[in-house]
Amino acid sequence: MNDSALRFVTEQLASGHSLVEEYITETKELRSRGVPDKLFEAMEYSLCAGGKRLRPILCIAAAKKCGLPERSALPMALGLEMLHTATLIHDDLPCMDNDDMRRGKPSNHALFGETLAVLAGDALLAQALEFPMFHTEGVPAANLLKALGIFTAAVGPSGVCGGQTLDMFKDAEPGCGARRIASLKTGALIRAAVLTGAALAGAGGDIFAACDEYAVHLGAAFQIVDDILDSTSTAEELGKTPGKDVLQDKITYVSQYGVDRARVLAREESAAASAAIRDFFGNDDFLVLLPEFLVHRSN
Ligand code: IPE
Ligand code: IPE
Ligand code: MG
Ligand code: MG
Ligand code: MG
Repeated sequence: MNDSALRFVTEQLASGHSLVEEYITETKELRSRGVPDKLFEAMEYSLCAGGKRLRPILCIAAAKKCGLPERSALPMALGLEMLHTATLIHDDLPCMDNDDMRRGKPSNHALFGETLAVLAGDALLAQALEFPMFHTEGVPAANLLKALGIFTAAVGPSGVCGGQTLDMFKDAEPGCGARRIASLKTGALIRAAVLTGAALAGAGGDIFAACDEYAVHLGAAFQIVDDILDSTSTAEELGKTPGKDVLQDKITYVSQYGVDRARVLAREESAAASAAIRDFFGNDDFLVLLPEFLVHRSN
């Protein structure tokens, strides 16, 4: 990636990040209405603990690219980040990956205890679906319904829940490998991020199919890099505990292919993602350039 492309993607990510942070602050009072203080504190702790905000940024970018103003995509974008945060809270629980650090801070259960962490995750998940349903403006009802259907499916048994089952139980499905696990536990939500944006904007046909292909490859590339970083990076850099995949005998791209081959696969998936949308969006587009940037990320 040349310097000007690198600068462009970095700037776009930073401005997307600010937009999401501002919207989180702006909607705080609304999201807290009727919620017991103790529960909201635990929910807000993890939602505001940092993070790249990749999924909302993808949703907003896809929506904009397909003709929708970013304001109209913001409630769905926030929903995606709330859902992602819920999956991270549950992923860190002692019964799952048993991780005490997340986003450079104590993980939710380490600070609030397991009971509240389970409830905060459940609450964020439910609010993630409710929030865009009631607060999206300027989008035809049919588009919103389609986007919410895509979003809901991504959380469920053939999405994150299915993927986490495959991740936790090696005997959950015969012949299951790293790609299948990644496509459900991580790919499903990344795909939903892109496709909810496209659906809100009313995209269909070839563009929608191209966005789908893009998102599937991007999701794979993203988890490959997550697996590589788990085996090569440090806690300071990652903001979470490295080396856990080997310790917990997980099936990952690294355990299945080794680090070198995994790096090649990450580049291949990233190139396939960009190729899927290049004809529609052009060479210099943020979404087209993003996969390569993400392959070289350090956290
Ligand atoms: C971490 O996701 C969990 C995976 C699905 C691999 P991110 O790497 O996007 O985590 P944050 O949101 O930046 O903390
Ligand atoms: C998590 O995968 C995917 C989720 C559904 C949260 P990992 O277990 O590899 O994510 P990290 O490495 O803990 O962030
Ligand atoms: Mg996990
Ligand atoms: Mg984990
Ligand atoms: Mg990981």
